Amino acid sequence: RPECKIAPSILSADFARLAEESKRMISCGADWLHVDVMDGHFVPNLTIGAPVVKSLRKNLPDAFLDCHLMVSNPKQWILDFAKAGASLYNFHLECVMDDNTNEEQATELRSLINEVKASGMKVGISIKPKTPAEWIVPFLGEIDMVNVLTVEPGFGGQKFMSDIVGKCKIIREASKEVHIQVDGGVAPSTIDACAAVGANVIVAGSAIFGSDKPQEVIATLKKSVEA
Ligand code: DX5
Ligand code: ZN
Repeated sequence: RPECKIAPSILSADFARLAEESKRMISCGADWLHVDVMDGHFVPNLTIGAPVVKSLRKNLPDAFLDCHLMVSNPKQWILDFAKAGASLYNFHLECVMDDNTNEEQATELRSLINEVKASGMKVGISIKPKTPAEWIVPFLGEIDMVNVLTVEPGFGGQKFMSDIVGKCKIIREASKEVHIQVDGGVAPSTIDACAAVGANVIVAGSAIFGSDKPQEVIATLKKSVEA
C-alpha cells in the first residue's frame, strides 16, 4: 500500500488558534492536515471555507492541506480552493451520483475530476457510509485518493462504524496505488481494523486533539498502519 499519512482533523482544534494548533500537530508528527469544509446544506453544520485555507497556507507554507469538501456543489469552490493553496480537493461522490449505471452522472464526475486536476490540486473522492465501494472503483485510475467515511459526515467525535470499514478492502483490491483515507471515529482503539483492510491515510480529530499526548497517539496510529 502507499506510504502512511497521519492527518489530524483541525475540526477538533481551537479555531481561534488554528495556525499554532496546526504547527503543533506537525511538530507532533502529523504528515497532512485534514480540513473539514461544511456548507450547512450537504451536512447540517457550518465550518470553514477558502479564506481560512488561505490564512493557513500563509502561516504554513509547506503543509499538505487535505480539504474535505462536505458541500452540495463541489464545482463552485474548485478555483477558490486552488487559489487559497489547498493541496488536495476531496469532494463527495454523492453530490453527482445516486445511480452508478447512469452515464451522464459518470461523465459529470469525470469532468469534475479533470477540473480539479487542471487547477493544480490533487483530487480525492469521499464516500458516505451508505455509498457502495463499487461505485468508485471505475474511477480509481483517475484520482489520487478515496476517503471512506466511517461516520455520517457533519460532526467530529462520533462513534466509528466498524461494519463500514470493509469497503476499503474492495478498493485496495482494485488499486494498489490509490490513497485510501479513513475518516470518522478513528482512534488507537479502532486503527487496527482500518490498517487490516488497506487504509493508509488516517484522519483523526478528537482522538488526537483530545489527548494530552498527541505525539503518542500519532505514533500509535502510524505504527499500526506500518506494521
Ligand atoms: C466528519 C469529518 C471528520 C471529523 C473526524 O464529518 O469529516 O473529518 O473531523 O473527527 P473524529 O476523528 O473526532 O471522528
Ligand atoms: Zn473529514
